[in-house]
Amino acid sequence: MKHLLIRPALAADLPALVDIFNHYVVHGHVTFAVVPHTVASRRPWFDSFGDGPHQILVGESGGVVVGCAYSSRYRPGPAFDTTVETSIYLHPNERQSGVGSRLYAELLKRLAAQPLHLAVAGVALPNPASLALHRRMGFDEVGTFREYARKHDTWISSTWFQRRVGLAVASSATSAEDTQYAGRPSPIS
Ligand SMILES: CC(C)(COP(=O)(O)OP(=O)(O)OC[C@H]1O[C@@H](n2cnc3c(N)ncnc32)[C@H](O)[C@@H]1OP(=O)(O)O)[C@@H](O)C(=O)NCCC(=O)NCCS
Repeated sequence: MKHLLIRPALAADLPALVDIFNHYVVHGHVTFAVVPHTVASRRPWFDSFGDGPHQILVGESGGVVVGCAYSSRYRPGPAFDTTVETSIYLHPNERQSGVGSRLYAELLKRLAAQPLHLAVAGVALPNPASLALHRRMGFDEVGTFREYARKHDTWISSTWFQRRVGLAVASSATSAEDTQYAGRPSPIS
């Protein structure tokens, strides 16, 4: 198994991360962005991460950044303080060797120590690797937005997933659904 150092991203990693993202901006649809990023344009995004609910981890192999996994605010407003959207991008040459699973698992492990309830993730279709990764990481499929976005003159559908995190919050909070479904298993696993 490849040696992989997983650690919080540093500002010095940003150029490598921009290169990785730009591959997917230019090629294909896994990100909806259409204009390539620059280090300067990506700096505010990078500065939004820290050691709280919104974290960015990188995988480093042989001194080279091979990918990142991160959690971001899902929607504005205090109602969504306990929800994050998670995502992951690997260098195209580093796919299909288990790096994605190791990096995402470490992010989810770290998020479990945060006051969070839910992680959600959208997967633009087709993307069999990301679908498999989210299922492997314990995400449940919520549903698919059909023709959800448009990129390169093509309609793109997106399947959304959710996963419970932050057990401290989950065990103490009452959800409207728990009340509605009292006596039956929660629909959120
Ligand atoms: C999605 C991604 C992070 C997965 O990471 P990875 O290191 O390639 O995946 P892993 O090797 O850890 O494998 C995870 C699962 O995906 C499956 N998988 C990986 N590549 C696959 C492919 N091309 N086709 C089908 N399944 C694939 C593996 O078999 C494994 O499934 P299993 O648990 O059922 O055995 C990586 O492929 C990637 O960066 N892709 C481009 C960016 C992207 O799509 N990001 C996600 C945006 S939602």
